[in-house]
Amino acid sequence: MTPNWVGQEELVTPSWVGQEELVGSGASVTARSVTGMLPSLMDAATVSVSVTPRDETDSSTEDSSPVFELRDVNVFYGKAHAVRDVSIDLTHNRITALIGPSGCGKSTLLRCLNRTNDLIPGARVEGVITYHGLNILADTIDVIELRRRIGMVFQKPNPFPKSIFDNVAFGPKVTGMKLVGRSGMADWVEECLRKAALWDEVKDKLKESGLSLSGGQQQRLCIARAIAVKPDVILMDEPCSSLDPIATARIEELMVELRAEFTIVIVTHNMQQAARVSDRTAFFTAEVQPDGSRQGVLVEEGPTYQLFTTPRERRTEEYITGRFG
Ligand SMILES: Nc1ncnc2c1ncn2[C@@H]1O[C@H](COP(=O)(O)OP(=O)(O)OP(=O)(O)O)[C@@H](O)[C@H]1O
Ligand SMILES: [Mg+2]
Repeated sequence: MTPNWVGQEELVTPSWVGQEELVGSGASVTARSVTGMLPSLMDAATVSVSVTPRDETDSSTEDSSPVFELRDVNVFYGKAHAVRDVSIDLTHNRITALIGPSGCGKSTLLRCLNRTNDLIPGARVEGVITYHGLNILADTIDVIELRRRIGMVFQKPNPFPKSIFDNVAFGPKVTGMKLVGRSGMADWVEECLRKAALWDEVKDKLKESGLSLSGGQQQRLCIARAIAVKPDVILMDEPCSSLDPIATARIEELMVELRAEFTIVIVTHNMQQAARVSDRTAFFTAEVQPDGSRQGVLVEEGPTYQLFTTPRERRTEEYITGRFG
């Protein structure tokens, strides 16, 4: 059976799509479970909730199914070949960290996962990317619905210029999410703020602007906003790079907690962060071509502990030991 979000004409793009801060913030699903959201994909989306420790006992992904399978993915910006031949699986209920030097295509690849590169004029993605078994590069995919399922948190916290409450309630409202009971929305906003480890700090000032919060609080508000629409996957592009170490620690703790419920892909420049929070790590680099241009390639991917202790590739070792990049 074809899922109800495939095969529809490209939706009329709501006015809020295309604004970076809103991408991935909407959803119309009413059930939390992956299987509930993707009834036709139940087999592909077998849920594993076991937690893999990030140490040498890491059992890798043997018990976990891929959410995304990328095969020979190439990304171009006009004539520039930014990402070359990337093949990788991204696993359910795991945190995968994408690391590598500036310009190697981490953000570009992340954007492929919910097709936000479509919003960049001249960007073109080739290859195969499946999400729960569906080729999301197909013309028939409803990209708006795809982005509802695959939320995004950006480098710079970007709350809407709305109240704390409305920041969280916005996505569920615009997508008509069904919430039970008179205080359904209030309860849901509270639950999301609790999940984002922000409730205690904001419960007495829900009507105040989201912009009045500190940077770390704003980022947790953005995470609450992202999870408010019950996504399946959360993409995070350097979510802590503008935060201080205390706020960073809060977000890292939060990521580890959220992993039980969501699949998380995080781009980070901070290798300690990748080592601390992720289950698997993918190292990318930018290869210089004869004409001087650079193409991002995947050097290796594996359990985080293995990649940081016994990398297979010399380039990975040089990068993680600080000799390169
Ligand atoms: N919107 C765009 N238009 C044209 N080229 C782009 C665009 N975004 C990225 N690129 C190019 O694609 C390549 C990969 O960029 P990308 O931003 O994905 O790298 P990155 O690994 O995320 O880098 P950083 O760590 O600095 O954020 C770079 O050469 C970059 O100049
Ligand atoms: Mg980037």
